[in-house]
Amino acid sequence: MKCTLALLLVAATATAGVAPAWAQKSEGLAQTPQMGWNSWNKFACNIDEKLIRETADAMVKIGLKDAGYQYINIDDCWHGARDANGEMHPDPQRFPSGMKALADYVHARGLKLGIYSDVGNTTCGHRPGSRGHEYQDARTYAAWGVDYIKYDWCDSKGLNAEGAYQTISDAIRASNRPMLLSICEWGENKPWEWASPIGHSWRTTGDIYPCWDCEMNHGSWSALGIMRILDKQAGLRKYSGPGHWNDMDMLEVGMGMTEDEDRAHFSIWAMMDSPLILGNDLRAMPESVRKIIGRREVIAINQDPLGVQALRFYNQGQVELWVKPMANDEWAFMILNRGEAPLHYRYDWQQHHISDDLSKRELDLKKATYRWLDAWTGKTGDTGKRLDVTVPSHGVVLLRLKKS
Ligand code: GLA
Repeated sequence: MKCTLALLLVAATATAGVAPAWAQKSEGLAQTPQMGWNSWNKFACNIDEKLIRETADAMVKIGLKDAGYQYINIDDCWHGARDANGEMHPDPQRFPSGMKALADYVHARGLKLGIYSDVGNTTCGHRPGSRGHEYQDARTYAAWGVDYIKYDWCDSKGLNAEGAYQTISDAIRASNRPMLLSICEWGENKPWEWASPIGHSWRTTGDIYPCWDCEMNHGSWSALGIMRILDKQAGLRKYSGPGHWNDMDMLEVGMGMTEDEDRAHFSIWAMMDSPLILGNDLRAMPESVRKIIGRREVIAINQDPLGVQALRFYNQGQVELWVKPMANDEWAFMILNRGEAPLHYRYDWQQHHISDDLSKRELDLKKATYRWLDAWTGKTGDTGKRLDVTVPSHGVVLLRLKKS
């Protein structure tokens, strides 16, 4: 009887259109991968409210908001201390106006504010984490007007990852403010297998480092270059989709790699449907960097509404060929040259018949001709003729294919 009553109740709730009790994350956020900026890669703990305000202004001024970037995310080290009631406060020296005022400032520019916390007692930067304060902190962030929470995995010894992220997800839900939950668990407990109902994206690896193919040893852990992160995505594409993305970490465009490497890095993140969270100083950057992060043809590949992550269908030596099925029967096509020398590449479009079991889409260029647009140079052509291109060392050629 009890069971019947419970079932009736659930049915009634569902018909009334109220979210059922087990619905967890705020739905409708990140239908395409989230886009924004985060303070960590460039500034680490050296952050304050002036930087955040100036970054919001720059985002609007240089056209990045119009290009789709939305979130201004404060990473680690914004914290002051908890008061006697356990309420968290920002560092009074670095954020003297408080977080509510900062959120108002960001919102007034049509942008959204993100904040950072951690499952443990302390964050990776040794600031207070949210352990035991999850509901209280989520309520505080909601009251401040926060829109996005990046939730880290330091000081997590003994914690069950799924349970810990479930707790903060429930706490966000209880706060009654829709907030995007960016799970930053570094892929240690296969979050792709359990995090989809809990959060909107999950890191698949440890931290990124601005190099093509290196590992930066930090003692107990290593930060990873672009190729190292890409190689760790093998087998994960089936877990990604609208509202739940594989996160390859924040971008390092404009942080010291070559222009070709930066373009390749941005292209790969776009193809893989990774969140596009900028990591450079938006207030001062060379025009070449602004052009890369603002390239609409590439952003459109990442923001395609179908939300299907790219598939590698060929690799030999230093060359890889990737495709990404897109809405309206379009495709993105990427040639990646991992090698040290530029590559003169000729590609016969009829050579491969690409069949994607995941999206149930086929690209058969014997049957149909597509027009292509080079997403970086704007050049056009069609698949009736063999492709003849030079792919820079540590670089890509990225095309968008449309049926002609
Ligand atoms: C971890 C995360 C990074 C960053 C730092 C902050 O390393 O993976 O992205 O948030 O912590 O301390």
